[in-house]
Amino acid sequence: MMEYNIAVIKGDGIGPEVVDAAIEVLNEIGKKYKHNFKYEEVLAGGVAYDVYNNPLPEETLEICRNSDAVILGAVGGPKWDDLPGDKRPEAALLGLRKGLGLYANLRPAILFEALSDACPLKPEIIGEGLDICVVRELTGGIYFGDRGYKETEMGMAAYDIMIYSKQEIERIAKVAFNMAQKRSKILTSVDKANILESSRLWRKTVEEVAKDYPDVTLNHMYVDNAAMQLVRYPQQFDVIVTENMFGDILSDEASMITGSIGMLPSASLGENNKGMYEPVHGSAPDIAGQGKANPIATIMSIAMMLKYSFNLSEESENIEFAVKKALDEGHRTLDIVSKGDNALGTKEMTQVILKNI
Ligand code: NAD
Ligand code: IPM
Ligand code: MN
Repeated sequence: MMEYNIAVIKGDGIGPEVVDAAIEVLNEIGKKYKHNFKYEEVLAGGVAYDVYNNPLPEETLEICRNSDAVILGAVGGPKWDDLPGDKRPEAALLGLRKGLGLYANLRPAILFEALSDACPLKPEIIGEGLDICVVRELTGGIYFGDRGYKETEMGMAAYDIMIYSKQEIERIAKVAFNMAQKRSKILTSVDKANILESSRLWRKTVEEVAKDYPDVTLNHMYVDNAAMQLVRYPQQFDVIVTENMFGDILSDEASMITGSIGMLPSASLGENNKGMYEPVHGSAPDIAGQGKANPIATIMSIAMMLKYSFNLSEESENIEFAVKKALDEGHRTLDIVSKGDNALGTKEMTQVILKNI
């Protein structure tokens, strides 16, 4: 029996609710395929700040470093919004990403056929469905550049610096080109090269990397146009590669095309196959503790973990199948329900998916 050591960070708000759901599904996979998934729960985010006065205790990072993969729910919430930046729950997320070297964030936005009703776009725009993957650079850019306050002629000012090295751009571009090669061989690189110096380096570097991938068609698009094109004609996209903040924003936009932010999983990867797996959504303070959250984003993140970190494709596809079947059968959580229909809670949706494993 293979043993897999997984660090589990439930986090804040709906984090514990969706992680508990996903772990139930993973345990079912373990039973069916005879794998031993071992969990070590560690604290990060607001809950860690409350206990340790530190959103990312060193012990948490160390345990994550020593595990085969990390599952994370979500961090943050109004309770901690007035803390200084380095004490905020969100700082834990950045510390984990940087500390574990997870520079490549894959965010697949797939519209399940059964959910075409939940997609706010007209049927003729959706066409045959939608399958986009946003490859977001995760350990550079404005998230990690110098920030602070300084005196200016307009008085006190705050700044955040967007900075990218050529090497950081090269390695994320390679991830995106490799993915495009395995898919439809179309890659859109999104930047703001008409304004930003870091984007001009981005574009030039992506062009250079493209020489090693002659079978992939590379397009460049400005981020403002990309935001518009995503709702005008999403079919034109397959793999999108972009810097940290643009990827954050565009993936939330893409998530809505799949019906809800509650549907979008993610994998954060580095040089080895260790990864961190988390839903794209946040801690959803407005519905936290009510048992209403859609667990599918986290459950699909587990499917990504099985595929990318453990090389268990069949098990991963089993989860995808179980989710698809639940949706085909008409089961819906609050965020994807049609008007007038009954919505399932987190636990009920999880039970339906479990039955399909
Ligand atoms: P959010 O994603 O938490 O919520 C946005 C909206 O989507 C809310 O109305 C929420 O109810 C809904 N929603 C989100 N996930 C859902 C789910 N699984 N099922 C049903 N509905 C869902 O974004 P926000 O409100 O901007 O941020 C709330 C907090 O979460 C903030 O503190 C933010 O910093 C944090 N955040 C954390 C992460 C993360 O941990 N990865 C990601 C995004 C935001
Ligand atoms: C995400 C979140 C995070 C980000 C925040 C909470 C730091 O929005 O994972 O998309 O901006 O990366
Ligand atoms: Mn985000």
